[in-house]
Amino acid sequence: MCKLEFIDVNGSFRMENADRFGGLYFPLASELGLKSAVSPTLAGDAKTDQNHFLLEPVSILDLKDSRSSRNFWCVLTDGQAWSATGQSAWQQALKFTPEEEHTTLEAGYMWQKLTRDASKIPLRSTIRSFIPYGKNVEIHRIRVENTGEQELSFTPVTAVPIYARSADNIRDHRHVTSLLNRIYTTEYGVHVAPAMSFDERGHQKGDAIYFVDGIDEGGKAPVQFYPVQEDFTGEDGTLLNPRAIAERAEGCGAGYRIDGQEALGGLKFSEVTLQPGENAEYILFLGTAGDEEEISRLHEEYKNQQDVDREFERNRQYWLSKVNISFAGGDPDFDQYMNWVSFQPELRRLFGCSFLPHHDYGRGGRGWRDLWQDCLALLLMNPDGVRQMLLSNFAGVRVDGTNATIIGNRPGEFKADRNSITRVWMDHGVWPLITTKLYIDQTGDFALLFEKARYFRDAQIMRGREKDAAFTQEDCWQRETDGRIYEASILEHLLIQNLAAFWETGDHNIIRLRDADWNDALDMAGKNGESVAFTNAYAGNLLSLAELLEQKEIAKRDVELLQDLAILLERDTELYNDTEKKQELLKRYTRVCADHFTGAKIRIDPKELAANLREKALWMQEHIRGQEWISDGEQGWFNSYYDDHGRQLDGIRDGEKQMMLTGQVFSIMSGTASEEQIRAIIKSADELLYDPGCGGYRLNTDFHEVKMDMGRMFGFAYGEKENGAVFSHMAVMYGYALYSKGFAKEGFQVLDTLYRQSMNLEVSRMYPGIPEYFGRGGKGLYSYLTGAASWYLLTVVLQMYGVRGEGGDLIIEPKLLAQQ
Ligand code: G1P
Repeated sequence: MCKLEFIDVNGSFRMENADRFGGLYFPLASELGLKSAVSPTLAGDAKTDQNHFLLEPVSILDLKDSRSSRNFWCVLTDGQAWSATGQSAWQQALKFTPEEEHTTLEAGYMWQKLTRDASKIPLRSTIRSFIPYGKNVEIHRIRVENTGEQELSFTPVTAVPIYARSADNIRDHRHVTSLLNRIYTTEYGVHVAPAMSFDERGHQKGDAIYFVDGIDEGGKAPVQFYPVQEDFTGEDGTLLNPRAIAERAEGCGAGYRIDGQEALGGLKFSEVTLQPGENAEYILFLGTAGDEEEISRLHEEYKNQQDVDREFERNRQYWLSKVNISFAGGDPDFDQYMNWVSFQPELRRLFGCSFLPHHDYGRGGRGWRDLWQDCLALLLMNPDGVRQMLLSNFAGVRVDGTNATIIGNRPGEFKADRNSITRVWMDHGVWPLITTKLYIDQTGDFALLFEKARYFRDAQIMRGREKDAAFTQEDCWQRETDGRIYEASILEHLLIQNLAAFWETGDHNIIRLRDADWNDALDMAGKNGESVAFTNAYAGNLLSLAELLEQKEIAKRDVELLQDLAILLERDTELYNDTEKKQELLKRYTRVCADHFTGAKIRIDPKELAANLREKALWMQEHIRGQEWISDGEQGWFNSYYDDHGRQLDGIRDGEKQMMLTGQVFSIMSGTASEEQIRAIIKSADELLYDPGCGGYRLNTDFHEVKMDMGRMFGFAYGEKENGAVFSHMAVMYGYALYSKGFAKEGFQVLDTLYRQSMNLEVSRMYPGIPEYFGRGGKGLYSYLTGAASWYLLTVVLQMYGVRGEGGDLIIEPKLLAQQ
């Protein structure tokens, strides 16, 4: 029913009847802030941030809703009205009969083109949409063609509901906020300048104009306007069947003003008559601006199709230049698929983890671990500027090893938490080193480790266990007792993050889970939960740090460190074995950080430091191997977690095997798992987690239990999201781990199943790319904004093709299979 083919070498594709799938959306965005989602019927929202939505915010279920559509009606002289975007009641009804309208969608990075052939009327529309990368405006170039054999006349009318407020008001004060609207028509369209931005904590003066403007192909303005939704639909009409269209109602002229209504970008152009084969064109501008002058400048710049075409081409080149890795192997479709995977980290840079229809949470921005992992892809594709980015990000670390979790748009903008909840995710200390290590390997820039960065300081102290009531500082920087801002090397930041974690153990001498680890949905075991998975990851990190310190570029240098760090460097196996004493030691350190942080330094020999770290890492691995291995004949796997009652999560219960992928990924990656154990893990994963019809390796087996002592994931239906879906991020990391230990065939199987599932449209129902996960029936969900993309790219380049750096040296070690 739905076929997809690639139409160039840059991943651009064509898809027939994409509007048959209800959950498809395509991202468009500007570097300046405008972020949009467009469906195959031009539904979807547009916003610059949480408080500035031009079109009504949509979650996936609302995507089909006509309220979020950019409708374009062709009102024929014989009384019929055809929607060029398919958003009319009668056209939607047609879909269920063989008289269906045919649509063709083409798309490439940040542009979409839709062609719709009417079945009952001889009309074809072609709508090409994009956002100039330096402007906050969607530009839609609309062509309507007479495909019949007779002359045909129609009047074009746009109908775009203008939401013009914060996403918070989607229900909360929805009506009251419409009273703030100041609506007026200009020469080219309908503008809304809300008097205030509604926020009961302190209302803000309105700072934006939202507009829907349009011109025809000769640059001529519309002749009338319908600026009020209610007037357009009529009391008993809807946006799919509006009274104003049915009754050919007169609109108003330019210069009309009305306050306090739900606004509509309703633009009526003059009637046009087309001979057979002729077409008429229109350009629509949907955007936000600070003032009217900005909108005037836009009209100066885009006067006609030629101007718009020039911008379109410039824009296309701009986004193409962001993906500067291409692939050529045995499967050309895979090469094309990789274009989209490579582009995804760019999308997450712009959209953050919010603001696409599936991503209906968050208020913008990216979390700590996402930021660091997206850097992995940037490092491969656009290494310029990454060094500075790393330096800025390190300033989000606190001296107790925890960190700010929300990072603003500009470097150095940090917040403890977007919802002001004090939380500590125990995996956060792991990611910066993984990214820094890749940076050093790719560049040989060991000097980065000795660059200085600040530390983040707020009221959270003692690794999030206490609040400093006396904290009054206006800025967010750690100071020494004499008030100076404390700065230290990146190496010190890394040591603090990884060493503090080493000591923060629970009853089983495994690092505490705290408020969750990578799996955000393990958020209900804060008291006694422990993460074996990430204890492995920290062990791997301490080993990586030891290796770095032994490199000739560092071995000769004197390393200057915070004097108090000596506490975290204590060496004593007996102490390592005693989890209570470990926690006391950590408390000693965090107390110093909170109460009398002098910033005094000591010098230390890198070799000695390396030996210290290695000893700790090997102890952790030995401890895990001895305590956490679950063996079952030829099969075997590591326990991944302890719940809040201190019980192992993985295991064999009443004869049923329970297994989580996360614990296996990090035990393999860090080297805890022996080769024999890796083989046993592969056997177990193949039996317990592998589901080729659903994208491959599931995140866990079905626990058949709502574990209130582990996390919200156990409330999710099994097979969805973090509860046993094929969760791409962890699946890809499993692939990476296998490749990195020489298991290329097995690693390939992981990546290949994900790719085939994504591209199996009838089942995955998504555009090319890797989704966050595959849910019920193998459907791809949460398209585009996932850290899985960075890891997929990384695995293909560094492991599958095997082109990578090692301390700046180039290593070529391909692990390609014959079929590739
Ligand atoms: C998402 C989050 C990520 C988290 C993961 C598992 O993954 O963005 O921080 O670790 O869920 O809870 P993603 O969408 O990146 O695949």
